[in-house]
Amino acid sequence: MSTVVAIDGPAGAGKSTVARRLAERLGYAYINTGSLYRALAFAAKSSGIAFSEIDAGFLNRCELEFRGADLYLNGCKLGDELRAPECAQGASVISGNPLVRDYLMPVQRNSANGQWIVMEGRDIGTVVFPDAEKKFFVTASPEERARRRMAQSSEVAADATFESILADIIARDERDSKRAIAPLKQAADAVLVDTTGMSIDEVVEYIAEMCR
Ligand code: C5P
Repeated sequence: MSTVVAIDGPAGAGKSTVARRLAERLGYAYINTGSLYRALAFAAKSSGIAFSEIDAGFLNRCELEFRGADLYLNGCKLGDELRAPECAQGASVISGNPLVRDYLMPVQRNSANGQWIVMEGRDIGTVVFPDAEKKFFVTASPEERARRRMAQSSEVAADATFESILADIIARDERDSKRAIAPLKQAADAVLVDTTGMSIDEVVEYIAEMCR
C-alpha cells in the first residue's frame, strides 16, 4: 500500500519545485506526472506524428517507466528536452485524448509501487489516487504564474514576452480545466494553497506542516 501526497494545480504555480522539495523534506519518493504527457508529446514530435493522430498503435510503441524520479522512454532517459515549450503545449493538447489518459493511468499507479510518495499533476487527487492520504491544490494568479515562468528561461521560447507567456498559461488553464475527462479541478477534500505572494520555502513549510 502506497502513502500518497497528491499535489495538483495549474501550469506555472510552482508545483514541481514545491513537490520535489516537499518529498526531500518528508523523505518520500517524488513523481512528476506531467513529464509522462510531455514525453508522449516529445515522442510524437520526434516521429513526425501529429498530436491529433496519437492512437493505440503509437502508444504501444512508447514504453514509459520511472526509475526513481527519472523517466525513461523505450529505455532512454529523458531530461531537459521535456521542458521545451512545444512539449508543454503538446502535452496539454494530447492530455484530452482518452487513449492517452488510459494508457498513462497504470504507469502512474505502478510508479507509486508501495512507496511513500509525493505525486504531482492535474488529476492525482481526483482520478489517479482519489484515496490519497493528503491532497493539496496549489495555485497562484495567472499574472504571478507568468512572472515565475518568465524567470525559468529553459521553459520559455527565446522571443517570449510577458504577454505571450500569460496568454499561453491562460490557454493551457482553459484546455486543462474544460476537457471532458479528468479536467483540472480541486478535489473536494483537497486543501487549497494560493501561493500568490508566498516564497517557495513558505509554501513547502506550510504543506510539510500539514503532512505531519
Ligand atoms: O505539469 P506539466 O506542466 O508538466 O504538465 C504538462 C501538461 O500535461 C498539462 O498542461 C496537462 O495538460 C497535462 N497533465 C495532465 N494530467 C496530469 C499531469 C499533466 O493532464 N496528471
